[in-house]
Amino acid sequence: MDDLAHAEHLVDSADLLRPAAVRAAATLGVADHLAAGVGDVAELARLCGTRTDLLGSLLGYLVSLELLSGSADDGFALAPAGLPLCTDHPFSVRENLRDDGMAGRSDIALVGLVHTIRTGEPAHVGVFGRGYWESLNDGPAFAGALERLAGDQLVCDAELIIEGYDWTGVREVVDVGGNSGAVLINLLRRHTHLRGTVLDLENSAALAARNIENAGLADRGAAVAGSFFEPLPAGGDVYLLSAILADWDDADAVAILRRCAEASAGTGKVLLADVSLDARAAGAQADRTELWLRAMMPTPVRTVEQLKALGRAAGLRVTWEGPATAVRSLIEFSV
Ligand SMILES: C[S@@+](CC[C@H](N)C(=O)[O-])C[C@H]1O[C@@H](n2cnc3c(N)ncnc32)[C@H](O)[C@@H]1O
Repeated sequence: MDDLAHAEHLVDSADLLRPAAVRAAATLGVADHLAAGVGDVAELARLCGTRTDLLGSLLGYLVSLELLSGSADDGFALAPAGLPLCTDHPFSVRENLRDDGMAGRSDIALVGLVHTIRTGEPAHVGVFGRGYWESLNDGPAFAGALERLAGDQLVCDAELIIEGYDWTGVREVVDVGGNSGAVLINLLRRHTHLRGTVLDLENSAALAARNIENAGLADRGAAVAGSFFEPLPAGGDVYLLSAILADWDDADAVAILRRCAEASAGTGKVLLADVSLDARAAGAQADRTELWLRAMMPTPVRTVEQLKALGRAAGLRVTWEGPATAVRSLIEFSV
C-alpha cells in the first residue's frame, strides 16, 4: 500500500456511517418488511414509523453496501448479504445490532471510548447521561430488550446459589438486583419453604413480576422497583447479591453492601454470590473485549479475598465461605 492508500484505508476504517446505517436498519426492523415483500419506500416508512425521504436515503445507502438491491423508484428488496438482518433468520444478527437492544446499547457507547481510555470511567455515562443498567431500565424503549434476552435459565454457575448454601432456616430472601427473576424462581422451585422478593430497577422489576407470576410462584414471590443505592426492603433473612458487584467499582460496591447491611439490621445475612469474568484476560479477543466492557461499565475482576475486604469496608463480617467455581463464589456476611 502507498501513503495515499494508507490514508484512504484509515478514513474508511474510521467511517461511522456504515455501522450506524446497518444498526438503524436493524432497529427499524426494515428487513422483516422487505422479506415479507414490501419494497415501496412510502409503505416501508409507514410500517417502520420513519420519514419517507430519509428512509429512502438509508435504503439507497444499504444498496451501496450490497445488503439490499433496487431503488426508491423501482422498490427495494433484500440481497442475500442482508438476510441475517431478519428477526427469524437462523443466523439473525438483529438483536445484537439494534440500538434498543442490550448489546447495541453497549456498542453505541464506544463513540465515547476516548473518555474511558483517558479516565477509566465508562463512556456510557458520558454518551447517555447515565450508567448502562439505568439507561436500560429507564422507560419502555428497552423493556423489550430485557425481555427478549431473559429466560429462566441459570447462568455463570448460579446453581451454586441454589445448591451450595443452606437455605433450610431461611424464610425470606431479597434478591437485590434480581433482574428477570431467574435466580429467585429457581430458588423458590427448589426450596419450597422459601419466600422471596426481587428488587431491581423499573423495567427489570416489571419483567421479574411477570415471570414470577407466569411461573406460578406469585404466592411466594414478588418483585419491587427500587435502587440498591437507596434503602432496601426490610425484613429479609438473606439479602442476595448475585452477579452484582462485578459491574461496579469499589466505592459503589461498598455502597451497595452497606444498603444490604442496613436492611439486614443485624438479624439477617448478606449472601454475596459474585461472578468473576477473568476468562476475558486470555485469547486473541482480550483487548477488544476489555475495551468494549470498560466503555460499558467498570467490570472489575476481584478475588474472594478482595470481595471479603469490600464486605468489611461496608461494616460486615464474614460468617461463612462457600464453594467456588472458576466464575462464581459464595460468601455469607453478617453485621
Ligand atoms: C448482571 S445483572 C445480575 C442479575 C441477577 N442478579 C443474576 O444473577 O442473574 C445486574 C442487575 O443489576 C440491576 N441493577 C443495576 N443497577 C441497579 C440499581 N441501582 N438498583 C437495583 N438494581 C440495579 C440490573 O438492572 C440488573 O438486573
